[in-house]
Amino acid sequence: MHIVLLGTPGSGKGTQAGIISQRLGIPHIASGDLFRQAMERGDELGERVKSYLDKGLLVPDEITIGMIQERIAAADCINGFILDGFPRTLEQAKALDRVLEERGQVIDRVIYIKVSAEELVRRLGGRFICRSCQTPYHQIASPPRVEGRCDRCGGELYQRPDDSPETVRKRIEVYFAETAPLIDYYKEVGKLAGIDGERGIEEIAEELASALSGKG
Ligand code: AP5
Repeated sequence: MHIVLLGTPGSGKGTQAGIISQRLGIPHIASGDLFRQAMERGDELGERVKSYLDKGLLVPDEITIGMIQERIAAADCINGFILDGFPRTLEQAKALDRVLEERGQVIDRVIYIKVSAEELVRRLGGRFICRSCQTPYHQIASPPRVEGRCDRCGGELYQRPDDSPETVRKRIEVYFAETAPLIDYYKEVGKLAGIDGERGIEEIAEELASALSGKG
């Protein structure tokens, strides 16, 4: 199954993608995580993308599309994948369609997680993520069992520099300018299912599972 999760920064894409990935046994591919890992390694990709992430701007399409194309060609994607944070521009969406078409595949379902602006700011202000496996936590909604440590891998938790109020505002602005048009793009081909993201994590996960099985 080839799944895309759409939604504003902080809407819960990473949280829900992690759950679906475990349930369906397909990889969770998050463009933001791939960029942050490259920055942690300090490699060439990391150097090229750092200034964009720091400012809350989109990384240019040619860099992002190449990175995702390479990732989805990996052996673990043979039975599908769940994309979180990609595509984010019409150009990226069209490139994804082309790459899949060459392999005789299509995007099966696009889930749009809807959350209000006030809730996004609250969520991102309280978010911590794991430096090793990128699992997100929230100091109130989903705290780790041991403070400062990841439940899954024991890695160190930290706050993303782009979660500062000023950069969050920029990221939300960029989302509405560049990414929101994808909602219509996928609606027109009948692949979009919208779900209310302002409920408990488990409740959303159940609705998402129904939407993926065609019942939602
Ligand atoms: P990226 O890492 O993709 O960030 P984002 O889209 O801004 O999304 P987030 O990771 O902030 O939020 P999320 O929706 O995953 O929410 P989460 O589950 O963590 O991108 C970062 C940057 O990389 C971009 O700004 C850009 O520079 C670059 N980039 C990435 N992809 C790109 C692309 N395709 N093209 C160009 N540039 C790209 O949840 C948020 C918080 O809320 C957590 O604390 C979580 O615990 C909590 N939470 C989750 N669900 C709930 C709930 N139901 N109730 C209460 N709290 C909840």
